[in-house]
Amino acid sequence: MPSISLLWGIFLSFTFTTSVKWSPIDVGADGRYGYKSLPLYWSEDSRLPFLARLDGKLVGFVLVTRSSESSGDGEAWDMAEFFVLRRYRHRGIGTEMAAKVWLRYPGRWQIRVMEKNVLARKFWESSITKFTGLSAHSSKFVADGVTWHRFSLDSRR
Ligand SMILES: CC(C)(COP(=O)(O)OP(=O)(O)OC[C@H]1O[C@@H](n2cnc3c(N)ncnc32)[C@H](O)[C@@H]1OP(=O)(O)O)[C@@H](O)C(=O)NCCC(=O)NCCS
Repeated sequence: MPSISLLWGIFLSFTFTTSVKWSPIDVGADGRYGYKSLPLYWSEDSRLPFLARLDGKLVGFVLVTRSSESSGDGEAWDMAEFFVLRRYRHRGIGTEMAAKVWLRYPGRWQIRVMEKNVLARKFWESSITKFTGLSAHSSKFVADGVTWHRFSLDSRR
């Protein structure tokens, strides 16, 4: 399991990117972006943190949860957060990260993407299609006034 301090480091890039683009959040009184549930990935069996490295360098991370309040499907794995550092994008790293996690935890999976994150939707369509060999479809839902797309797949081979 990666150390939490390593993940906090790369998380700064992630929270900065997402706060600018998708969900505005403020830094806390300590000047840092918070993510209250991050420590739970080291204490709860239903949460798994992964770091991705290329040639020994950190290039991304994945946070996985076992159940999701939004899906109502406690049996499915959920990609809670997924991130590739900007300078390492468009090289297939995200596709490889997703495939590795799906293979490591065979079963039903869901991925929720904000409708306005068009590039991420293209990414999931592409990576799911490459993994399953079938074209990927998403279903729309609205939560707290935000429109999301939910992709589902079964990673058992
Ligand atoms: C989405 C993200 C994980 C993609 O990572 P990546 O390593 O660049 O993805 P890949 O190189 O494996 O791309 C695979 C496919 O996704 C699609 N894709 C990825 N980025 C794209 C972009 N900017 N524009 C259009 N299509 C894109 C393409 O179909 C691509 O296949 P191709 O290279 O053969 O054309 C990365 O951009 C990221 O971390 N974004 C910010 C965080 C985020 O939005 N996370 C997802 C939240 S649900």
